[in-house]
Amino acid sequence: MALEAQLLKHSRGQIKAKVDRIQTLPTMAKVGMRVIELASSQEVSMADLSRAIHQDASFAARVLKIANSPFYGMPRQVDSLQLALVILGLNEIQNIALGLSVFNVIRNMNSHPTRNREQFWLHSAGCGIVARILARALGLHAEGTDFAAGLLHDIGKIVIDEFFGEEFDLIHEKAATKNVCVLEAEEEVLGESHAHIGGWLAEKWQLPDILCGAIMCHHDSAKAPAGTFVKDPKIAALSYVAEGFCGCHEIGWDGDSRACDMKSPDAWDILLAGQSKRTRADIDAILEETLQAYRETRPQMLWE
Ligand SMILES: [Fe+2]
Ligand SMILES: [Fe+2]
Repeated sequence: MALEAQLLKHSRGQIKAKVDRIQTLPTMAKVGMRVIELASSQEVSMADLSRAIHQDASFAARVLKIANSPFYGMPRQVDSLQLALVILGLNEIQNIALGLSVFNVIRNMNSHPTRNREQFWLHSAGCGIVARILARALGLHAEGTDFAAGLLHDIGKIVIDEFFGEEFDLIHEKAATKNVCVLEAEEEVLGESHAHIGGWLAEKWQLPDILCGAIMCHHDSAKAPAGTFVKDPKIAALSYVAEGFCGCHEIGWDGDSRACDMKSPDAWDILLAGQSKRTRADIDAILEETLQAYRETRPQMLWE
């Protein structure tokens, strides 16, 4: 019997339950746990966050490297986390640290060494950077959530790869033979998308609501599925546009040959609401500036 015929489409409840039961995810490093704990508390101070990040010297160095990268536009090179906190602010640094904590776990998961995690990592990092540049070009004050949401938008694909291996192969086979995007093939094979699965994982890890919502809705920023908590559809829309941008400009690869749509009217309507820049020509100009700014960031150096 063909593999496809053997696989029953899962119900949303079954998949969610399976995500909830996942016990084999590598545990978050102590520093990551502490950063998440602080992010969910109401009264976090600069001293608390600085102390938490300094628990791990190499992690602190990486946070500082990102804060110093051109896309954060620091007025000058800063060599202490305390100063970076003063210049960029608590939320900005907290979101950089949060995104890195979660992605470090994912980067270390590699049970299928034949699959190209490096390209996936470059795609994810690229989306974080592009989302950040776009937010700045559009004057959106996202305080680092743009970067973290872009970085983590596709974590659901890793869950499917790791825990729904047969379905993962079938999804990619179907996407290639039918020439449809991976999202469509996921819904056909699994009955769920990587966006929703990633959102559930983010909930399980108790990431802030705004990040859970952005991950869950990055392919459909206009409407959130029932029971989710999108507090800012702009963040989801930023991730969506950034993902399409990275697909079009071959910035890494998330395994989807059809992912090249950065002009979704819905997402742009959300991003440009209340702004004077609304025409297609304006959007093209913003994207051109974004590409220029992205090239200037030399993003590879962030992850060395
Ligand atoms: Fe996606
Ligand atoms: Fe993606």
